[in-house]
Parts: sequence; structure tokens; C-alpha cells
Amino acid sequence: MILVTGGTGLVGAHLLLHLIENGESVRAIYRNTATIEKTKSLFDQHQKQNLFQLINWVKADILDVPSLTLAFENIEFVYHCAAVISFDPKDENVLRKVNIEGTANIVNFCIHNKIKKLCYVSSIATLGDLAQNEIILSETSEWNPEIYHSDYAISKYGAELEVWRGFQEGLPVVIVNPGVILGSTIWKEGSGAIFVKVKRGLSFYTKGQTGYVGVNDVVKVMTKLMQSEISGERFSMISEHLTYEKIIKVIAEKVKKTPPKYYAKPWFTGIIWRIDWVFSTFFGTKRRMSKYAATTIHTVDSYSSDKIKNALNFEFQSIDAVLNTIID
Ligand SMILES: NC(=O)c1ccc[n+]([C@@H]2O[C@H](COP(=O)([O-])OP(=O)(O)OC[C@H]3O[C@@H](n4cnc5c(N)ncnc54)[C@H](OP(=O)(O)O)[C@@H]3O)[C@@H](O)[C@H]2O)c1
Repeated sequence: MILVTGGTGLVGAHLLLHLIENGESVRAIYRNTATIEKTKSLFDQHQKQNLFQLINWVKADILDVPSLTLAFENIEFVYHCAAVISFDPKDENVLRKVNIEGTANIVNFCIHNKIKKLCYVSSIATLGDLAQNEIILSETSEWNPEIYHSDYAISKYGAELEVWRGFQEGLPVVIVNPGVILGSTIWKEGSGAIFVKVKRGLSFYTKGQTGYVGVNDVVKVMTKLMQSEISGERFSMISEHLTYEKIIKVIAEKVKKTPPKYYAKPWFTGIIWRIDWVFSTFFGTKRRMSKYAATTIHTVDSYSSDKIKNALNFEFQSIDAVLNTIID
């Protein structure tokens, strides 16, 4: 049997659907019944209600060791997708706790239960930093601790170290490092927020760039890696690089909204994050733009996915095709 953590999230839910469609027997952990509804809606969207019934749901939190004991009973393979995703500096502690300590718990249970293979979903945020003369980040880029990284990136990097520790202790592992994952709009938080924001109407765009990938490609690669002999490797996963201007405009066009007209220059977003900080500090509001976010939306990042393309002979779906499947 296969165990999936994060099965109520964007990646985990699509992974559950993909695994069950392929005849696998799966168990998923959940924390409260309300969140299972999101996974159910995805199966409903695909008219696969009958397959949803086949998921063996077990209540467990990756920080709660006793609850994981039951979750790991009769498990052979583990996909670890559960994580906290946040760029709010106030979430530093929860990010470190869930992403690093939670992953350490999963790794320890995998070792103890002699799991055949663990697939961990990391992020391009951990790929490291460009050395002099480098223009593209890849699996071999070095993480430079002297350079500023978001709390999210640090937590995912710390989680990867836990997975590598497991590998050193004899646990077969693979790590995937996807870019921004685009998938069903049922998930309105995280990467799904872009659809909500564009639908509401945005006035500003920026010219920074990052890498995007469709969720179906992510889960296909994860299962192919799990079925392969590959172990002790990590793989960057990007279909295409797009500027924020481009992705917002493409989504706006598809949802028939007017695209944003104004370019938000770095000095402007610099003012915005400071105002946001003042409101958050003195009135307790949730941060909507951190200093880190205000910088990254102007940064042009490029990533190589040659390693996974060559290892599995895999071709990614174009982002236009991905968006067409998401936006009806
Ligand atoms: N979305 C992206 O663009 C993106 C890009 C690169 C990498 N990733 C990585 O991909 C993975 C999946 O991301 P996602 O987009 O699917 O995230 P998501 O939609 O926010 O889902 C997160 C999942 O983690 C679960 N979770 C959080 N804390 C937990 C805990 N203490 N115990 C058990 N479960 C817990 C959540 O459960 P509840 O429903 O109970 O909250 C939820 O199922 C993450 O590792 C993320 O870092 C995501």
C-alpha cells in the first residue's frame, strides 16, 4: 500500500487521483474532515466519485508521532507532499516546525518501517544560488548560506537535509523540485491564489520571471521516479519560464478580464512592502507583501530541467495547454 501525505492539498489530491486511476491501493492522511472535501471536489470534477471511495483516509498530523504509527501500518511506498507554504515572515516558526521537523518524522517512520522508497516534494526554492558565470540554476547549483533566502526556502532546504539523512541511513529516496505548480482552482491558496487575484482584477504587473509546471506533470514524474531504479537523486521540474507580466496577462485573457495596465517599478513595490509591514506590525493584519516577495517579483530566475527530461525521456505540457485544462 502507498501512503500520501498532503492529500488534501493541490499536489497530493492530484497524486491520489493519478495513483487510483492506475489501480494503486492508497492511504492518505488528513487533519480535519472539511479539507477532505477539496480532494473530493477534484474527483467530482473528473467524474471519478467511485474512485474517491477507494482512498483509505487516516487522521494524522506529521508533527504528531503517535498518529503516524497507524498511518504507516502495511505501507511500502511513501509520497511526502505535506508542507506549509508561506512567505509571511510571521510564519517562520510554523514553517520550520512542519517542514523540517515534520519531514524528519516521516523519514524516521520510513526507516523504522523499512519503506521501499520515499518521494519527497521539495521546491526550486532550494536549488541554491548562481555562482559567478552561471546563468541557470539546476540540481548541481550550490546553496550559499551567506545569501538571503526566504523562511520557506530555508525550511524546504532543511527538509531536504532530513531526506538525505534518511538516504545515508539506507532509505531509497527521490526528491522533486518543481517550480510554481499550476493546477485546479479548487485550491485558492498558494499557487492557486494567482487565479483568484486575476479574476478579481489586478492593476499592476512586474517584469520578474520564474518557472512554471502543471500539476499533472508533477504527479506523473513522481510516480515514474517511484517506479524506477533511480534513488538518491533530485530533479528540478519546470515546463516554461514566464514573466509575471506574461502569466497574468495570459490568465486574464483566458478568464476574460482586463489585464493589468501599470508596471509596478521596484521603488513602488518597495513602498508597498513597507506600508504592509506597518499595518501588520501595528494592526496585526496578515502580510500580503513581504520584503522578500517585493524583491523576487522583479528577479529574473531561470532553471534547467534537462536532468529529468533525460532521465525519464519526459516532455512537459506547455503552460498554455496547462492553463486551458484549468480554466474552462
Ligand atoms: N504549489 C506550488 O506552487 C508548489 C511549488 C513547488 C513546491 N511545492 C511543494 O509541493 C508540496 C505540495 O504543495 P501544495 O501546493 O499541494 O500545498 P497545499 O495545497 O498548501 O497543501 C499542503 C498540504 O499539506 C498538509 N499539511 C500541512 N501541515 C500539515 C501537518 N502538520 N500534518 C499533516 N499535513 C499537513 C495540508 O493539510 P490540511 O489540508 O490539513 O491543511 C495539505 O494537505 C509542498 O511540499 C510544497 O512545498 C508547491
